[in-house]
Amino acid sequence: MTKKSKQSKALPIHILNGPNLNLLGTREPEVYGHTTLAQVEKMCAAQAATWGLSIVFRQSNHEGEIVDFIQEARTGASAVLINPAGYGHTSIAILDAIQMLKIPVIEVHLSNIHRREPYRHHSYVSKGATGIVMGLGAQGYLRAIDAVADILKGSK
Ligand code: DQA
Repeated sequence: MTKKSKQSKALPIHILNGPNLNLLGTREPEVYGHTTLAQVEKMCAAQAATWGLSIVFRQSNHEGEIVDFIQEARTGASAVLINPAGYGHTSIAILDAIQMLKIPVIEVHLSNIHRREPYRHHSYVSKGATGIVMGLGAQGYLRAIDAVADILKGSK
């Protein structure tokens, strides 16, 4: 076995996106910006690569499917970034799934939910998150990747 093949390859960061984020770029661009989700994915892959990390990037409009994604991350991911979108404000099931994870979880919101309507101020996901990045638009995903890379480096 060569030295290279002996090196353990880090599991990918799973980047999970909730409902309506498939329409990023055209959806209320004054709130969420003009960057599409496909562009966010490319930016995230490039940012992770600068740390020698890879990503799995997913989106779903369905709560149960997001729970499935989180359960898959238990064995398939080194960390999770999640923008739960509207489900952050409503879903105990998504929080329950996150609380089963033993890896870093960063909650990401494009907008600063505390500057918005009162019903957006509470996020169930926050209780299960290692950290939270919000209000930085698409750049927030990249800063969350940096944070995860730092945490993973420290845990080696
Ligand atoms: C969001 C904020 C949520 O309140 C909203 O429901 C979204 C997007 C954000 O990224 O700013 O869909 O998570």
